[in-house]
Amino acid sequence: MAETDKARADEARAAVVEAALGRLELDAKARLLAGQDMWTLPALPEIGLKSLVMSDGPIGVRGVRWTADDPSVALPSPTALAATWDPALARRAGVLLAQEARRKGVHVLLAPTVNLHRSPLGGRHFEAYSEDPYLTGEIGSGYVTGVQSGGVGTTVKHFVANDAETDRFTVNNLVSERALRELYLAPFEAIVANAHPWGIMTAYNQVNGTTMTEHHHLVNEVLRGEWGFDGFNVSDWMAARDTVGDIEGGLDVAMPGPRTVYGAALAQAVRDGRVAEATVDAAVRRVLRLAARVGILDGAEPVVTEPPASVDGEALAREIARRSFVLVRNENSALPLKAGTVALIGAAARDARVLGGGSATVFPARIVSPLDGLTAALPEGTLTYAVGADPATELAVADQGFSLRAVCRDADGTVIGTRSAPNGLIQWMGSDLPEGVTHDTLHTVELTGTFTPRESGPHTFGVKGVGAFTLTVDGTTYYDDVQRPDKDDPFEAFFGAPVPRAQAELTAGEPVEVSLTQVVQLPDDIPMKVVTFALAHSAPQRDPDELIAEAVEAARGADTAVVMVATTDRVESEGFDRTDLRLPGRQDELVRAVAAANPNTVVIVNSGSPVELPWRDEVAAVLLTWFPGQEGGAALADVLTGAHEPGGRLPTTWGSLTDAPVTQVVPADGELPYTEGVFIGYRAWEQAGRTPSYPFGHGLGYTDWAYESLETDGTTARVRLRNTGQRPGREVVQVYVSPAEPDTERPAHRLAGFAGAEAGPGESVEVTVELPRRTFEVWDDTAKAWAFVKGSYEITAARSISDHRLTATINV
Ligand code: BGC
Repeated sequence: MAETDKARADEARAAVVEAALGRLELDAKARLLAGQDMWTLPALPEIGLKSLVMSDGPIGVRGVRWTADDPSVALPSPTALAATWDPALARRAGVLLAQEARRKGVHVLLAPTVNLHRSPLGGRHFEAYSEDPYLTGEIGSGYVTGVQSGGVGTTVKHFVANDAETDRFTVNNLVSERALRELYLAPFEAIVANAHPWGIMTAYNQVNGTTMTEHHHLVNEVLRGEWGFDGFNVSDWMAARDTVGDIEGGLDVAMPGPRTVYGAALAQAVRDGRVAEATVDAAVRRVLRLAARVGILDGAEPVVTEPPASVDGEALAREIARRSFVLVRNENSALPLKAGTVALIGAAARDARVLGGGSATVFPARIVSPLDGLTAALPEGTLTYAVGADPATELAVADQGFSLRAVCRDADGTVIGTRSAPNGLIQWMGSDLPEGVTHDTLHTVELTGTFTPRESGPHTFGVKGVGAFTLTVDGTTYYDDVQRPDKDDPFEAFFGAPVPRAQAELTAGEPVEVSLTQVVQLPDDIPMKVVTFALAHSAPQRDPDELIAEAVEAARGADTAVVMVATTDRVESEGFDRTDLRLPGRQDELVRAVAAANPNTVVIVNSGSPVELPWRDEVAAVLLTWFPGQEGGAALADVLTGAHEPGGRLPTTWGSLTDAPVTQVVPADGELPYTEGVFIGYRAWEQAGRTPSYPFGHGLGYTDWAYESLETDGTTARVRLRNTGQRPGREVVQVYVSPAEPDTERPAHRLAGFAGAEAGPGESVEVTVELPRRTFEVWDDTAKAWAFVKGSYEITAARSISDHRLTATINV
């Protein structure tokens, strides 16, 4: 749409919003600013406003139901999307997500997460993009533009400095204004400027003594004032804690509901004279503007009247996955695979970990595991499989072999409703209850059905959740007691670990009856009603030494050994940070044993964020595949067979925890000082003079590139490069800028820009990379302004932060 048409449409919407606002009473206004349940705002029929629906985010759209019977396309993890270094691909991901949102009746996607990889220990590292604010801003801008082009809003989150999970509700992050501006605020600023998000989500944590939902300076003065953000500000779930502080701090919507600090409490604060009604009006105006944009306010034309053409979700998930895989090592061109036999090894090769845990969870309709993908792609009879080592140290949600349904009863034991249960997880939020059931009548939920084991032996069953449970397997009641939370995180029932409660000797192929009943007891002080628990299970454990020996035998007999190593959801998830970067279980030992038996060992790493790879120089190739989404196994087959090259470059430095310069994520006395200032990620590794395992920006393809020329004038860098290999390829040309005179205040290098270049064998191609003014600026804490630092700079065209190809010096 032309700019003038856009301005006219904005004006027309603004007029409808003003008229609607004028017709609202104070109570209705205050009600609109509070969640009516876990995911929605109330409808206000008196002004023709429908209920606004929000949903997580970021790799898929879960919808208002947290269950596997409402499936969603699951894209690769945000770290993977960033590893593509391709904002246009992020945009296409966004278009698909808007399509998914529309399919599920969702108006606002609670994404993207643009906090930074300050420390590799951060529990939600997999859910954020990068350690670099520029790359984060570019990928985030593409994503937001894509989602909103489909008429669906976004909430860029979590504003700001929510870079770790320990004590996330209360931690006071002490961050200098300069580090905030140059690092943590920078992606938000870029996305506001480039993509005009319709929403932002304020974080749980404090920054410099003020809770982010109440941060007048950062929200009202910086975000809205300086940057001109005109969207709505929603609290992270349960982050709003003070009626007056929140509304004065620029928070528009308190989620979830119905119990919040807004609603009746806000109306009362206005009546008591503690809050000006105009302040409430400003918040309501922003919510109505959002409603108008997404098309749920009568009389207002939505921003998007014709959604973009339909996208094939499976195909896009597969394309993003293979474009995100980072080949960090490939000795003697071990990949792509040569003809011959392959021994595939690793628990994750069969039960792939395709996405990260926590609120980012979605339930894909199908998952292509590496075993499925390679079985389909390799000639029959050339592939064998062995578990090798199982990193899962605990029970998983009952799935494979279970046939279950949920039966709801009232206090008299009368059945009042039933619902199918595709797996052992029950998660019913707000009014999402089986037909005929209400929170008032619901007394117990029984998950009941049969389990047909794959293997004979002792099977373990467990219970995840908080409250009174009864667990019966094959006629024996093993547990009849109360499980209590062991942390005071209100999300413990969601993210806590299952507890083993029964062990039963079972025979392969012989079904047994299983039943788990919860007495539903919802505390009065929670903001929303949620029925949540899970039946968990693990198959008989085999002797770990035997598993490794079996894998070694398989590897010895094959032309290539492909070992898949992985983290588990007890290692990487929302709600806690990591304490080390090691692969869980005996996986390191497994890789070493296999590599000793077969020099042609290729290791596939299935983790959302960096892990230590102590054997990395003992194997032929290492391919990082992140959490690759539902089509991960198909994408892996594409890359291993050479049908496509792996396209990823590291969006974050991979190194050992001992060498990592910034590791502090645990607050002391409630405070977490960001003492490193502007030195995180590669900036910090360079400052410390340490060499990581794999540097920022690193990644190999299946062809070679020669960088032929670099021309620059301080505003652009033109780079000519040639594909000197045997097959077509795509290169990510990275441009770094460094002050020519060493300067302890400023990072030695800074990513200024990048561009993708595609060329056939022997062909040359030229890319132009813009050098934003910000590249030469620093935040001056005293002047409270950006300062352009004149002088001499080196402009470097590079394949990674430590693989420089061409350098030119300029004066600006
Ligand atoms: C997370 C948010 C998420 C929200 C709703 C919170 O725990 O921090 O990222 O959007 O829950 O699920």
